[in-house]
Amino acid sequence: MKYSKKSGNSKVKDLSLAKSGAKNVAWAKDHMKALAQVKKKFEREKPLKDLFVGMALHITKETAFLIETLQAGGAKVAIAGCNPLSTQDDVAAYLANTNAIVYGWKGETTAEYWKNLESVVGQLKAAVDAGFKIATIDDGCDLVSLIHEKYTKLLDHLVVGTEETTTGVIRLRAMEKSGALKCPVIAVNDNKTKHLFDNYYGTGQSTIDGIIRATSTMIAGSKFVVAGYGPCGEGLSKCARGLGAIVSVTEVDPIRALQARMDGFEVVKMSEAATYGDIFVTVTGDINVITLKHIKKMKTGTILANSGHFDVEIDVRNLYKQAKSVEQIRPGLQKINMIGEHFIYLCGEGRLVNLACAEGHPSVVMSLSFCGQALAIEYGIKNAEKLENKVHVLPGKIDNHIATLQLEAIGIGIDKLTAEQEKYLASWQSGT
Ligand SMILES: NC(=O)c1ccc[n+]([C@@H]2O[C@H](COP(=O)([O-])OP(=O)(O)OC[C@H]3O[C@@H](n4cnc5c(N)ncnc54)[C@H](O)[C@@H]3O)[C@@H](O)[C@H]2O)c1
Repeated sequence: MKYSKKSGNSKVKDLSLAKSGAKNVAWAKDHMKALAQVKKKFEREKPLKDLFVGMALHITKETAFLIETLQAGGAKVAIAGCNPLSTQDDVAAYLANTNAIVYGWKGETTAEYWKNLESVVGQLKAAVDAGFKIATIDDGCDLVSLIHEKYTKLLDHLVVGTEETTTGVIRLRAMEKSGALKCPVIAVNDNKTKHLFDNYYGTGQSTIDGIIRATSTMIAGSKFVVAGYGPCGEGLSKCARGLGAIVSVTEVDPIRALQARMDGFEVVKMSEAATYGDIFVTVTGDINVITLKHIKKMKTGTILANSGHFDVEIDVRNLYKQAKSVEQIRPGLQKINMIGEHFIYLCGEGRLVNLACAEGHPSVVMSLSFCGQALAIEYGIKNAEKLENKVHVLPGKIDNHIATLQLEAIGIGIDKLTAEQEKYLASWQSGT
């Protein structure tokens, strides 16, 4: 990998893309009105003064606005991507020209990915030496787990970490359970204003967007198989149905399988779906959900994509090993030739398709998620003395505040409980 230019400490692909990055960031800001309100408050109150934030987040136009919000609060920021294929190079170039330190480009090797995270750790160390408090923002838990594995001295200075996605929260809860977690972490994913909107509406729409950009395939009339019926899988199944697909769902959880059935979807085993599906999307957070055994049963020309956090849901490693040949058909789409005439198409190398092949979620939904991130960092700093080394959830009051900011942004007023209603709802005496 060659970098055409370097700016300050940053390492990005091409600084000449900064102008296009600025336009994309401006578009995002225009659609992130709730976060703009948080930024205004941060400008007034400077709650993040003397704080250095190390981030491992998708480097997108929306993340750029989160960084500006943190900076408005007084923080200094260094960021690496949280996926080798998700960085928007023009946004990285734009950020490298600001006060942020950026390490990331689209198409990093796995070694480069980890080196970039190490560079963020290097900035955190320097910040500690310079007397800053430090915090982390993760999407997938790679940064915090790296610090726990290799840079434990930093943990004494780490006031709070935040986590964006379900898979990261699952890893953190496993760390907490085994006694390995040595700093307080806030599970931003668990905000209602995050997973009920970002995972559900965001992943639903942007996953389809990624598949269409990679393949330009017709969704209407296709047999569309979704593995996993969490908020992401549910949103995706409903989006695909909305576009006219015939949707089947696979699950391992009986409750969610039943929900999918009652929502009107076929619920089948993957071994059965493999025989008839046209498009498959995994969105489970689990490993080897689609294996070679399944792929061998699939029709020639089947399209495979993953929208779960890591590229382990489709067994791509063995798929590449067993392939007769791999052809890059167009950006984000490979034809994998198997034995005989059999082939399948793989989107985004099995990495999350909405970011590898499209731009991630629409800005408006990221505004909600990133209000959660900004307010979680503020909450962590304000409550540093009280927070134990556990996975915490933000108080409901903050979640409601985020929803209120967004309702105001789109000009919607809602009713307020009357005193009589409040009393009624808090009482148990009155029945029929
Ligand atoms: N693409 C994106 O932008 C994006 C956005 C948010 C979350 N995510 C990621 O998507 C994944 C799913 O997120 P979620 O919030 O819906 O998670 P979730 O844990 O609530 O739901 C996952 C579902 O998958 C099911 N599942 C697990 N193993 C399975 C298997 N082998 N076969 C079929 N189903 C299985 C689980 O029972 C569960 O119902 C996570 O990895 C999360 O980090 C991606």
